[in-house]
Amino acid sequence: MTTSSATEVSDASELRHQLVEQLRANSHIRSAAVERAFRTVPRHAFAPEVPLPSAYADDIVATRHSGDGTITSSLSAPWLQADMLEVARIQPGHRVLEIGSGGYNAALIAELVGPTGYVTTLDIDPVVTERAARFLRETGYSQVSVVTADAEHLPSKVVPEGRFDAIVVTVDTWDLPWIDALAEGGRLVAPLRLHGYHWAIGFTKGEGALHSDEPLIICGFVAIQGDGAWNKNRRTVPGAGVRLFWEDGTPLPVDQLALALTREPTVTRTSITVGGQEPFDLLTLYLAGALPGFCRLEVDPDDDHQVLNPPPQHWPAAAIVRGASLARLAHERIGDGDDGEGRYEFVVHGYGDHGHLAAQEMAEHVEHWQRNHRGARCPFITARPAVGRAPADTDHEPHLFAKKHTHITVDWPIVPVRAACPTVPGKCDAR
Ligand SMILES: C[S@@+](CC[C@H](N)C(=O)[O-])C[C@H]1O[C@@H](n2cnc3c(N)ncnc32)[C@H](O)[C@@H]1O
Repeated sequence: MTTSSATEVSDASELRHQLVEQLRANSHIRSAAVERAFRTVPRHAFAPEVPLPSAYADDIVATRHSGDGTITSSLSAPWLQADMLEVARIQPGHRVLEIGSGGYNAALIAELVGPTGYVTTLDIDPVVTERAARFLRETGYSQVSVVTADAEHLPSKVVPEGRFDAIVVTVDTWDLPWIDALAEGGRLVAPLRLHGYHWAIGFTKGEGALHSDEPLIICGFVAIQGDGAWNKNRRTVPGAGVRLFWEDGTPLPVDQLALALTREPTVTRTSITVGGQEPFDLLTLYLAGALPGFCRLEVDPDDDHQVLNPPPQHWPAAAIVRGASLARLAHERIGDGDDGEGRYEFVVHGYGDHGHLAAQEMAEHVEHWQRNHRGARCPFITARPAVGRAPADTDHEPHLFAKKHTHITVDWPIVPVRAACPTVPGKCDAR
């Protein structure tokens, strides 16, 4: 342990147990094994640069930055680590690969696999692996194997005979190039990016593909680097002070939209409402898969924007492009709501000559989602290796996201809003 005084150690263990109580109360820790791991591993020893209370706050600890100040490595937030470890269903004796190192999460996994299992943690950044290896040694977890490599090209010598029983990806990834390294029946948990939205998803490997069966967890991680880094399609619409970005599908004719975005939009109402504190990220995932030409629109903070009714800067709105016209999802306050947090109606703003048609198309999909899928916390996600498959036609095949290594399909169960799936992770039955 890196702590020096007895008081510090006892403070640390007190803070650690408090954190565990909080994670249990919020259902992030749900099993005795994960609870024991969190009670055992001294998180502060993996983040010596921050004061003890920060090491045991339910928040990330940034540990490395790039030249422009972007965080490139961190200890992830404990609530998310707990959720992902629960979803990984790691058992004693398992062989586990962690992608993205920091040391702490690898130590938690080492506790879960016990002396008969083993853990490999891999990171692209030698400074991170040097640090993780040192902290793991100092805390008594030197059995964890620490490897420096780009996870896009998993070195074959890292993969055990019989492959991994579980792979825990702790870096925001656009693709899943690790299916081959996972044993049949094994679990893979990854924060996967689908059209700019990040979801921690638990998969089981069956017949060579990955199948999800738990509610998705909305999350944020540092972006993957190296050959798997996703090169963002982010373009400013000239003269409109608006940026569009899209991650999957056909490139968009951004330059044609300038005129449309500086004109008064039409407003198409949906009569579908949402509470001020109610998440609706699954609606945006639904729209991203259902509508070709999907993108996200945000106001460029550096531009003197002229777009009418701009969306809040930190909330990129779901949008679709139709030639020189565009529609974007917005919401209008219609009352206070039962909880005083406001009640909002989804409306769709249409820009350009055919904006009203695009808005109507989007509004119809919002209504379809409301009628059929609003209660679904568990869209079923399947990732199949892209090799050997016909090229994907994402414009005509709804809910298909074509990546470099995988084709990912999202299958929406029919769950009307009143029969909602559980909102905390746990196996989903409704398909
Ligand atoms: C959020 S941190 C990992 C947190 C860590 N698992 C923990 O104990 O909390 C993400 C890590 O992914 C690493 N990373 C980014 N791109 C990578 C790549 N292509 N291959 C391997 N590691 C990568 C970063 O260097 C960073 O250290």
